[in-house]
Amino acid sequence: MDLISIRDLDRKNVEAILDSADAIADGKKRPDLKGRTLATLFFEASTRTKLSFQSAALHNGMGYVDLLPETSSLKKGESFADTIKTVEGYADVLVVRHPKEGSARLAADMIEKPVINGGDGANQHPTQTLIDLFSIRRYKKRIKGLNITLLGDLKHARTMRSLVYGLAMFGSEVTLVSPPGLEMEPNYLEEVRQKFGLKVSIKNEPDYSDADVLYVCRIQQERFADPYEAKRVMEKFMIRKDDLKNAKEDLVILHPLPKVNEIEVSIDSMKQAKYFEQAHFGVPLRQAVIEYVLSR
Ligand code: NCD
Repeated sequence: MDLISIRDLDRKNVEAILDSADAIADGKKRPDLKGRTLATLFFEASTRTKLSFQSAALHNGMGYVDLLPETSSLKKGESFADTIKTVEGYADVLVVRHPKEGSARLAADMIEKPVINGGDGANQHPTQTLIDLFSIRRYKKRIKGLNITLLGDLKHARTMRSLVYGLAMFGSEVTLVSPPGLEMEPNYLEEVRQKFGLKVSIKNEPDYSDADVLYVCRIQQERFADPYEAKRVMEKFMIRKDDLKNAKEDLVILHPLPKVNEIEVSIDSMKQAKYFEQAHFGVPLRQAVIEYVLSR
């Protein structure tokens, strides 16, 4: 199967993947996919998604091939379509990241092999959402009923769009906080509300004392029409250690990373800050995802 949007999974599917990732993370299971190959095709910058997919493939006993757009035949004018159709012959599963919304779906529609969306523009990033749900479940032992605050550029962040859907699926209570003008797209939110009866509040200022999980993302400057506007918002948007003085003892702070300057560096050493461990969970989680898509 392809994994293009978090909508491709229902709650049972997600739970199966999280359970499998738990078993892998705890050393109770190791998928054996010897002889299979993963391809990473990243048309947009990446550190965690690409490397953790490659690491996951190696841990599953697989090999991987990596297309580097800058030194590939794309430079000679080859199309995205021809590139995808070619790489299909070199791998059993393809991970595609691209700045244009819909590109992973386009790739999936062109080939038989499974395609995993590693992020398409401001649209979807399903495997990041699985990491986020996995992290929340490991730290909090549940997802349902938790008060989860999503803070940042909710207009352009694919991580936030995918995550709000995943949280709604599990019955979390979600608070959305963004700088003015960077609110989540109302139509998408309405879709999630109608489908799951999501309990959501929209605020201009976060209430840090209320949250069980604080999930932050950066201002997605590369998706702004006006770079000066992005810079202006970035200068004002920062969470300081002092802001968290009334936060719950067991607050969990997550972030898909990269962080730029939206989290004061001193927060990194607080016990509530879990984002580097969250990034590390990318390996067992993506091991489970690779196994899942290859088995369906
Ligand atoms: C995110 C992405 O690419 O959407 N990074 C990631 O995959 N961990 C977040 C971001 O770029 O802000």
